[in-house]
Amino acid sequence: MDKSIKVAVIGAGTMGTGIAQLAAQAGHAVKLFDACADAVPKALGGLEKTFGKLVEKGKLTTDAARTILGRLVPSADLKDLAGSDLVIEAIVEDLPVKKKLFADLEALLPKDALLATNTSSLSVTAIAGACARPERVIGLHFFNPAPLLPLVEVVPGIVTDASVAADSMELMRTWGKTPVICKDTPGFIVNRVARPFYGEAIRIYEEGLADMVTIDHAMKSIGGFKMGPFELMDLIGNDINFAVTKSVFEAFFFDPRYRPSITQQRQVESGRLGRKSGRGYFDYAEGAVAASPSADQELLRDILSRILVMLINEAVEALHLGIASRDDLDLAMTKGVNYPKGLLKWADEKGLDLCLATLDGLQAEYGEDRYRPSPLLRRMVRERRTFY
Ligand code: NAI
Repeated sequence: MDKSIKVAVIGAGTMGTGIAQLAAQAGHAVKLFDACADAVPKALGGLEKTFGKLVEKGKLTTDAARTILGRLVPSADLKDLAGSDLVIEAIVEDLPVKKKLFADLEALLPKDALLATNTSSLSVTAIAGACARPERVIGLHFFNPAPLLPLVEVVPGIVTDASVAADSMELMRTWGKTPVICKDTPGFIVNRVARPFYGEAIRIYEEGLADMVTIDHAMKSIGGFKMGPFELMDLIGNDINFAVTKSVFEAFFFDPRYRPSITQQRQVESGRLGRKSGRGYFDYAEGAVAASPSADQELLRDILSRILVMLINEAVEALHLGIASRDDLDLAMTKGVNYPKGLLKWADEKGLDLCLATLDGLQAEYGEDRYRPSPLLRRMVRERRTFY
């Protein structure tokens, strides 16, 4: 697949606009369609401004900006997309609506066209179920903002052709992205493996072991994370983070490891959504005074250790279940959510025996399945193996 393939993007919201920009920057002719008549002109207007700023900053010449913008073609009718080689869907996150769109698209497109979905929480296999040729359907899960964040999770459904997955990986590389391949399971890699970053942090807070500022401080100052869990939840939006947590929990048939917290639900119910509402776990009003974190080094180390072993356990379990390879799991967390280190590499450095002992200790203390160690972790300790 090269620059000559014709791309179409459906849904001109946050993600679709970013994906259309990327495809145009990579040299493709891109059609953009949205069910809402205002959305495409608004998206293209926004992109003109984005490129105007890049020209102002000297990052792009006026000619180059004009060429890229010229590749973007608004479409007022789904039928205009006939003849596209690759269609990327980024519409509302609703299974029946996506299925109907995929069935309609398949009737329009050439038989060998590739149909991709940017869904973050639905099953690619379920969406492909609406198609007569599900082997041509794949998940291409970009991260927001799509033009800037390098990671793309490439998600074949259970009947997707191996060649479709290989072509998608190759195409994402030509777009300058870092693609990883993962199984069609809830949360894919990042949204699954990252759950304890939030969940265990909230749990530590709920138990009164530390306040939010201190928990964030531990993760940043000792862990090397760019942001702490609470400030990151405030940035993502507590409503969005809570929705992802609930959806992963339900999709795993209520596995206690992914159980959402009442603390987060209360935040959402009270409208404390984070930065966007001016207040979340922290206050973003002008003049608001931030509390100081505890300087108790032992407490900070305990906080980091507890959250980190939970993250490591999640990554090990994902490897155990064949969700992704060792390298892709580590790449996903460093490129998708900026973790300072891959979790499996971190596990080796920390010592697998220590990770296992910490989890066993937590499980014995709480008696909760939430802390059950992955069988792979136990086996590796028994066999004295490491991931790298
Ligand atoms: P958005 O709400 O910003 O945009 C969705 C657009 O789709 C709207 O313009 C809407 O008019 C249009 N639309 C709805 N139904 C349609 C239909 N049947 N046909 C054509 N257009 C239709 O949503 P956003 O945030 O861009 O998300 C889109 C998809 O990307 C969802 O599946 C979401 O789960 C996924 N996603 C979102 C991320 C995010 O951070 N916002 C990150 C990664 C994936």
